Amino acid sequence: MRLHQPSDRVVISGSGLWTPDHVITNEELVAALNAYADQFNTEHQADIEAGRIQAVTKSDAQFIEKASGIKQRHVYVKEGVCDINRMRPLIPPRAEDELSHQAEIALHAARSALAAAGKTAADIDAVIVSCAYTQRSYPAIAIEVQNALGIDGFGFDMLVACSAATFALHRAWEMVSCGSARAVLVINPELVSPQVNYCDRDSHYIFGDVATAVVVEPADSANSEHVFEILGTQAKTLYSNNIRSNFGYMSRATDTDPFAAENLFHQEGRSVFKEVCPMAADHLSQHLALHDMTPAQVRRWWLHQANINMNQLISKKLLGRLPDEDEAPTVLDRYANTASAGSVIAFTLHHQDMKTGDVGVLCSFGAGYSIGSLLLRKL
Ligand SMILES: CC(C)(COP(=O)(O)OP(=O)(O)OC[C@H]1O[C@@H](n2cnc3c(N)ncnc32)[C@H](O)[C@@H]1OP(=O)(O)O)[C@@H](O)C(=O)NCCC(=O)NCCS
Repeated sequence: MRLHQPSDRVVISGSGLWTPDHVITNEELVAALNAYADQFNTEHQADIEAGRIQAVTKSDAQFIEKASGIKQRHVYVKEGVCDINRMRPLIPPRAEDELSHQAEIALHAARSALAAAGKTAADIDAVIVSCAYTQRSYPAIAIEVQNALGIDGFGFDMLVACSAATFALHRAWEMVSCGSARAVLVINPELVSPQVNYCDRDSHYIFGDVATAVVVEPADSANSEHVFEILGTQAKTLYSNNIRSNFGYMSRATDTDPFAAENLFHQEGRSVFKEVCPMAADHLSQHLALHDMTPAQVRRWWLHQANINMNQLISKKLLGRLPDEDEAPTVLDRYANTASAGSVIAFTLHHQDMKTGDVGVLCSFGAGYSIGSLLLRKL
């Protein structure tokens, strides 16, 4: 236990990215779903014709790329996903005394963020694991990671769907600002593939797995090569049923199938598009205005990576034109939607060229609805 000083200047001093080795292209995913559809529809022909069950509809790789900008995704485990007799990853269970899958990927990203920040476990007081899903309720994945790294302090998990990373950075900024922690490790182990309905053409292509991590500390203690002051953070939520995952422990008591389509990720994609884009654009212009800035003054936009058309619409509303890749880098073509990690991947891969005084915006948006943003300035 330590007594810390409040800090009036809080920074991001390093970030890390872990990318799974396995890639699934749109073509592979579509071939699997279409073969599954043929098999299912033949087996259930009588029930489909009698209107008792619905036929499985086929997917199309060209549609996917045009509608989303996604060309491929990385996955933690590829085995099983394209097996038409399984259509979900085959991840071997681990014993309670082994490192959990999610803690393992969290550790990869955490170690790389610590290295980028030039910090060791001894410098960190708090670990936040923040993502769209945790693989269990408790003990917290964050405490498992804290233990594996040998951090003396505290850790907790938090879930805010696609805004989990920015909302956790917001908490880290508050903790360092008020002095409840010297330095905070925020980790986003987005192990999303187990929740994807690979039999549903509307959503089978959307997600990929990844892990990101960020070190937040006072400006005074930061000594890494790329340090970004957090000028401000803003968060907004507005309840909506348009993006839902109902999977959870209640299905045991409600006698519902935990793996049924209605319990996995599903969305009203059109409504999400129409409602979230203006919300995100308003949020960002208001956030900038609070700091007497306009969108034209932003050197780089590290936007949430769900859909290229959403990002283009939001950017157009803000800038009055489409940004180029240098201003608003895209990673979703390779990574797909990695829930909360997308904007942190963009930041991690695209900040090294920024000059002192350059301003960037890190922003995520998604289920909830939720929107989180950080205004950053290169020191
Ligand atoms: C999801 C999204 C890409 C879908 O694009 P869209 O143009 O709205 O597509 P729709 O769902 O309206 O489908 C259009 C048509 O293509 C069909 N379609 C949907 N998925 C398809 C697929 N994989 N292959 C072929 N056709 C497909 C639909 O059935 C529909 O056919 P219909 O007109 O005969 O009914 C789009 O709504 C979107 O960007 N939403 C933003 C939300 C988001 O990405 N959220 C992620 C979580 S933050």
